[in-house]
Amino acid sequence: TTVALLFGGRSGEHGISCVTAGGILAAIDRERFEVIALGITREGRWIHVSDDPSDWTLVDGRAPEVDPTGNEVLLPDARHRPGERITLRTVRDGAVHDLADIDVLWPLLHGAYGEDGTVQGMLEMLDIPYVGSGVLASATAMDKSATKLVLRSAGLECAPGIVVHEDGWASESHRVATYLRDTHPLPWFVKPARAGSSLGVTRVSDPEKLEAAIGSAFAVDPKVLVEEGLDAREVECGVLQGRDGREPSTTLPGEVKVGADLDFYDFEAKYFGKGTVSIDVPASLPDAVLEEAREVAGRAFRALGLEGLARVDMFVTSDHRVLVNEVNTMPGFTPYSMFPVLWENMGLSYADLIAELIEQARA
Ligand code: DAL
Ligand code: MG
Repeated sequence: TTVALLFGGRSGEHGISCVTAGGILAAIDRERFEVIALGITREGRWIHVSDDPSDWTLVDGRAPEVDPTGNEVLLPDARHRPGERITLRTVRDGAVHDLADIDVLWPLLHGAYGEDGTVQGMLEMLDIPYVGSGVLASATAMDKSATKLVLRSAGLECAPGIVVHEDGWASESHRVATYLRDTHPLPWFVKPARAGSSLGVTRVSDPEKLEAAIGSAFAVDPKVLVEEGLDAREVECGVLQGRDGREPSTTLPGEVKVGADLDFYDFEAKYFGKGTVSIDVPASLPDAVLEEAREVAGRAFRALGLEGLARVDMFVTSDHRVLVNEVNTMPGFTPYSMFPVLWENMGLSYADLIAELIEQARA
């Protein structure tokens, strides 16, 4: 089986995607899978890049980047015939060369133009089998407000909040701020609707700071959520699609514990060791609560129509209500990331998890 790993990309999570790819390149069983590494530059060009994992690691706190000077990749220009393999080509020294015949493509991309249904739509058009969710599920899960609409209609609980749009914000901001003060206790979390890794997210504990927080979020996305920051613990479950029509399987939840030195689990805390963060796998919660979280994660997976994999991030309140925070259709996937660690705890090794996802995409 030949698998193309596609990483980097146009979103703010470019570097994280490269590190994720490095983890997979190091662990994938090369006897079983041939690997082609495809990078997408920040500008969106597809490049044939190194498949040496050491080229894709964090060095001195800096994430790697896809170099735009490499050889460009050409995609097949039409739907291929059933049963035929898909040939990728590359441009080298001004001439077109065959690069590889691939069976599966893994969009290991986080955020916009990757986790949001856009790449998935292109792959559907080209008839290339790929790992993970399809167009609608990816697009819905990328958008935190659309996610909540779907989950609430499936009877799942999410944090209360409102959505604001950049268009018209200037004339509405005063009214919205008053409404929030009257109806939603502080703190508030201000989040771009379609972003990941906490990019553009601010915790607001003083209403005077709302305007600036919304401005930071608008810099990432013209659609923004203001949510009540719940007094709750943060747990995450891994979910894998069931094979042959079976129910999705879920991991025991893990917990992200954030020290008092941090406002919340932000980008720097997630990847660059800022503050005190510990990960408890499994979370130390009563068995019934762990089971409830798994149940909620599985229901969220089905309600959103997800495929392949997802990490469902949830809140557990002190009275043990489980609310969904958000759903990631291509969660961070280094060997130390929560998703693989959760599966490792269930007895599924990193290499086997990678193989399972590729096999699922082929099936
Ligand atoms: N968006 C990051 C990669 C995650 O959810 O793990
Ligand atoms: Mg996320």
